[in-house]
Amino acid sequence: MKNCKRYLVTSALPYANGPVHIGHLAGCYLPADIYVRYLRMKGEDVIFVCGTDEHGVPITIRAKKEGITPQEVVDKYYKQIKVSFEEFGISFDIFTRTSTKVHHDTAQEFFLNLYNKRVFKEEITKQFYDEKAQSFLADRYIIGTCPNCKNENAYGDQCENCGTSLDPSELINPKSTLSGATPVLKETKNWFLPLDDMQDGLKKFIDSRQGWKNNVLGQCNSWITQGLHSRAMTRDLDWGVNVPLKDAEGKVLYVWFDAPIGYISATKEYFEQRNNGRITVTDATVKSEKWESYWKNDESCLIHFIGKDNIVFHCIIFPAMLMAYNEGNTDKFVVPMNVPANEFLNLEGNKISTSRDWAVWLHDYLIDFPNRQDELRYVLTSIAPENKDSDFSWKDFQARVNNEMADIMGNYIKRVIDLVHKYCDGKVPTLNETILLGDDEKFTNDLESTEFSIANSIMEFKFRDGLFTAMDFARKGNQFLAETEPWKLVKTDPDKVDVILFRSLLTCVSLAKFIYPFLPQTSKRILQQLNLNESILSSSEAIINHIKSGNKINASEILFTKITDEEMEFQIKKLADKSVAKSEVTAAEKIKFKEPTTFDEFSKMDIRIGTILEAVKVPKTEKLLKLLIDTGLDKRTVVSGIAEYFKPNEIIGKQVCILANLAPRTIKGIESNGMILMAENSDGELSFMAPTKEMENGAIVR
Ligand code: 2FM
Ligand code: ZN
Repeated sequence: MKNCKRYLVTSALPYANGPVHIGHLAGCYLPADIYVRYLRMKGEDVIFVCGTDEHGVPITIRAKKEGITPQEVVDKYYKQIKVSFEEFGISFDIFTRTSTKVHHDTAQEFFLNLYNKRVFKEEITKQFYDEKAQSFLADRYIIGTCPNCKNENAYGDQCENCGTSLDPSELINPKSTLSGATPVLKETKNWFLPLDDMQDGLKKFIDSRQGWKNNVLGQCNSWITQGLHSRAMTRDLDWGVNVPLKDAEGKVLYVWFDAPIGYISATKEYFEQRNNGRITVTDATVKSEKWESYWKNDESCLIHFIGKDNIVFHCIIFPAMLMAYNEGNTDKFVVPMNVPANEFLNLEGNKISTSRDWAVWLHDYLIDFPNRQDELRYVLTSIAPENKDSDFSWKDFQARVNNEMADIMGNYIKRVIDLVHKYCDGKVPTLNETILLGDDEKFTNDLESTEFSIANSIMEFKFRDGLFTAMDFARKGNQFLAETEPWKLVKTDPDKVDVILFRSLLTCVSLAKFIYPFLPQTSKRILQQLNLNESILSSSEAIINHIKSGNKINASEILFTKITDEEMEFQIKKLADKSVAKSEVTAAEKIKFKEPTTFDEFSKMDIRIGTILEAVKVPKTEKLLKLLIDTGLDKRTVVSGIAEYFKPNEIIGKQVCILANLAPRTIKGIESNGMILMAENSDGELSFMAPTKEMENGAIVR
């Protein structure tokens, strides 16, 4: 494992096209913050950077929807996102934005470095152009009919109905979503990063990484095995970082080219501000003096915290860019040491959806639960989607806050402080080492091993484990009081009570230290009650040395009040109401019925019940499955775009509806005879149309 002299930690730059929700927080901001707080506590040299991603089509689409300019969109959401993160204690050293001059200059300089070394391949391709709007149309700006399944709302890059990847030129009846006009094809030049030529180098890079999570490695290897393709790093758009070339009027850098460079510009900007006195370095956790010490120094370790949808960009494309930059340069950029990507967080059993408003927005949470930031940090860490998707539910939130935070941790701290007030006059008792409690050595070992185990969990990005270990320590503290019963001993053996309570205070201070990366506010509140300075958190001295007999402690305070059933019912109802209102709007807005048809026309469709006998993935595609269907009359092959939703072995034996007289067509070289009928919701999730009881194969659907 690399020896890290300093750490450069990044969290994915959120698009400034909307507020942030619990899925964002759990995915890559909270884990990064826990990691960084721990490193700082250990006295490591670390910089933690982030900012908003202010370019790309999502921003312009949002602007169009809200009837404002893209600049107004990013200004609004930059501020809101920044405040949300601050409120939750995400302790970035800098939270900037990709619209700064430093960023535009840095991204252009990076592009030119690669351009001058002839890394890019220039290609002239035909792209759709909207003459009415006078604009080239990026993939998502064109819709039309899919040549495969005749879905009328296929996007320029992909038909979401049958899963086929498309080139915009393959669409039947393409329409611009900007003006509704029929676009024309116009030649345009763009610059491509030849990832295909860089494949071997990238494979070596991935293979040489250590300690990567399986979910991340799995995705990387699957991209590499399928074979990488060159990708355009420029776009014909007017919103973004201009391509710094003479013959590139009206072109900007691809948002995924400029965004990761945002990590570099954020670091540069941090030092610019620091040198101008706009950032005051109080306790200097960013110990080095220059941005290059973090980016261009072998002893620096770069760690990207991201969500799973960003893996390819951070593990393949950005490293490819960095490696291309480093080629022939003496001052080389570091490449990522680790990319501990998380899976997705669901909400009440469903995918979080911005469009359906199925989300708990951080700014909303703060209104309903002021001063309960640590409660959300606790629950989101406990259920973090570290290895697989996980689910947030309000009932679970309530249970964890009430039964774990309040009953175990909060109750324990209060109990100890109250006992010290009651039996020791509110002062730290004397530790008489000649009075033994029987398990003294075990306790010392336990204390050490708990600290060690939490440290390991954090350094291995297993934050849930780290938090569970800390909670266990609080549980043991409670157990110790229950077993030793100082309230019974006080009359007969007050010296022993002192020893019991000294150990309990030591447990409380240790707990404050253990939970600090996870629950910084709670940790500080515990120390405040114990009348101890926060500086002890980063002290390398043994915790026991900070506990001085005779020192006064403050009155206890309730750390966590319980969450009521009414509060939870309110949240659940709010979620359901918003979602219903939204789905009514979306239904009215989006799902327009097709033109009327006749019964005769409908009767031409021969829909039957069939059974899936075999299912295999079509090689080199992500979405297609090749199915063998028993229709009762024959056994036939159907290619279906459902691979993202169903695993082959899960659907074998399933009864489905099949459109049996659809003319055969060839998809990826396989003749497909028919179409499996599916229902699709507004999130693009698919479900089979299947009989409610078993039917004979060949049964007619009408
Ligand atoms: O998925 C997203 O929200 C992107 N804006 C993340 C960008 S991360 C980095 F590359 F900047
Ligand atoms: Zn299609």
